[in-house]
Amino acid sequence: MTKIIAHRGSAGTHPENTMAAFREAEHVGADGIELDVHLTKDGKLAVIHDETVNRTTNGKGHVKDFTMSELHRLDAGSSFSTEFPYEKIPELTEVLTWLEQTGLTVNIELKNVFYLDYPGIEEKVLEELERFDLKSRAIISSFNHLGLYRMRKLDPMIDIAILFSEKLYEPWKYAESLGATSLHPHVYSMTDEMIHTSEQQNYPVRPFTINDEMHMERLIHAGCSAIITDYPERAIAVKERLRS
Ligand code: G3P
Ligand code: MG
Repeated sequence: MTKIIAHRGSAGTHPENTMAAFREAEHVGADGIELDVHLTKDGKLAVIHDETVNRTTNGKGHVKDFTMSELHRLDAGSSFSTEFPYEKIPELTEVLTWLEQTGLTVNIELKNVFYLDYPGIEEKVLEELERFDLKSRAIISSFNHLGLYRMRKLDPMIDIAILFSEKLYEPWKYAESLGATSLHPHVYSMTDEMIHTSEQQNYPVRPFTINDEMHMERLIHAGCSAIITDYPERAIAVKERLRS
């Protein structure tokens, strides 16, 4: 049965990539959360989507130019809604400390893309997962496939997913060539038949970002292992309706 992964937490109803959004995902019954990580000036893993803090906080500037404690002083909730005045940019450690007590899966997306290299980000993420003994509940994904290849060299077992928005030819074969174990395509990147073939070949497909009921139904019917959505509660309701 298709699992539901809450994109940046329950980003449709709560400020993205904050503890409030992650807690809400668990509260509504999601199977897992997706989050994004960047490296700070002092080498910490900050949970935030953009390379700057401009859109989601009351600060300005690049994540890489802040220390983690400087980032922590920013308000990461109010720009979403004044109902969330106390939300902060979490450090990955904080999320994993909480997640350890839940049964949730965690999809960590490495944001070492475009001009951002973040050397050592793969090692740091792995160390954190090992410290919390959470490797078996983790999926590492990125649009930076060279980084994913590096990750596979560091760990032979962890679930690694290629993120892509293009219409790749037989993406499961491409995934195999770099040691990835699953596919995180944009919703328009794969046909139902491709999803079926990939799942049959043991390459789970977890498309993003699926927010409307029509696409949720289609992808559940197509047999996706999971869908990544800003609205986990809606996706769970669709699943229940299809089951009854
Ligand atoms: O991991 C799925 C999705 O998060 C990829 O895109 O830009 O929302 O991080 P983005
Ligand atoms: Mg993401």
